[in-house]
Amino acid sequence: MERIFSGAQPTGNLHLGNYLGAIRNWVTLQKDFECIFCVVDLHAITVWQNPQELRSNIRELAASMIASGVDPEKHVLFNQSQVSAHAELAWIFNCVARLGWLNRMTQFKEKAGKHRENASLGLYAYPSLMAADILAYKATHVPVGEDQKQHLELTRDIAAKFNNDFEVDFFPQPEPLILGPATRVMSLRDGTKKMSKSDSSDMSRINMTDDADTLAKKIRKAKTDAEPLPSEAAGLEGRPEAKNLITIYAALTDIPVADILAEHGGTQFSGFKQALTDVVVEKLAPITSEMTRLKADNAYIDATLAKGADRADAIAQPILREVKEIVGFLNR
Ligand code: TYM
Repeated sequence: MERIFSGAQPTGNLHLGNYLGAIRNWVTLQKDFECIFCVVDLHAITVWQNPQELRSNIRELAASMIASGVDPEKHVLFNQSQVSAHAELAWIFNCVARLGWLNRMTQFKEKAGKHRENASLGLYAYPSLMAADILAYKATHVPVGEDQKQHLELTRDIAAKFNNDFEVDFFPQPEPLILGPATRVMSLRDGTKKMSKSDSSDMSRINMTDDADTLAKKIRKAKTDAEPLPSEAAGLEGRPEAKNLITIYAALTDIPVADILAEHGGTQFSGFKQALTDVVVEKLAPITSEMTRLKADNAYIDATLAKGADRADAIAQPILREVKEIVGFLNR
């Protein structure tokens, strides 16, 4: 059976990278797969989170997922800490994964930076929890942005080593689904850095909660180079900022890059930026207004997440029971 699992961290609101790289694909995949979508709050606390803000971010992220088109009735939407199988399986995987594998994880190196000795143990073990998220449901497909590719390779290694160590054919090899034209949306301030929630400058990203004026300002101030836009895609090479803006436009409109450049090639950025603003505002406005409506209804969000957690638990618990049998634990 084919099953999707994916998640996002409640560490501030969704930005356009999360939407184009992941959530928008989740919405489309709902037609063909059984889907489980998760607000990964256990992952969020690998770096310090203010408890009040975390609570509100969990609800806000769930609201943005629903506003973007995730259907919590047909599919499963929940927050990770309500389903204990994630943490339990992660521990078992901590004993399967090797230190050498985790030492290679580039995201840990980036996030821990120069203060490696001061990073939490959780931040280091993060990919092992991510493997548990996916494999607790024996998910077969995982739609993510480009930046999660290495974590998914580790998930496949953990699944294979578990099967091999215990001489079973238990866990599947989950396939990453890195889909669409915008698998890596870049910062508006620096086309060589990915758009990220952790960037200190809010001008670097388009938040799904930004109003039309803020969007217009961010796009107007987005970094570009001095040349006019090229007429062909090859002319975007070595021009990361131009490439990023064109990619965003292509992803939001479903117009091929070649057609966009045929129209705007040879013109200055100011005209194109205006066209891009119109598209971003038009596409995000319905999501933003639905998000605002849902955010005012904590009772609905909490009930939806609780129901999702029950359904997630019902899938994960029997799988975890079998894992415990395989490992040699006694089940109740
Ligand atoms: P997170 O919360 O950083 O991001 C959520 C999703 O958005 C994608 N993404 C991007 N895509 C394109 N361009 C960008 N600039 C960009 N920034 C983020 C991410 O690739 C991701 O798909 N570790 C994960 C959450 C997670 C998870 C999982 C995902 C935990 N367990 C199990 C899949 C399966 C993360 O931190 O995503």
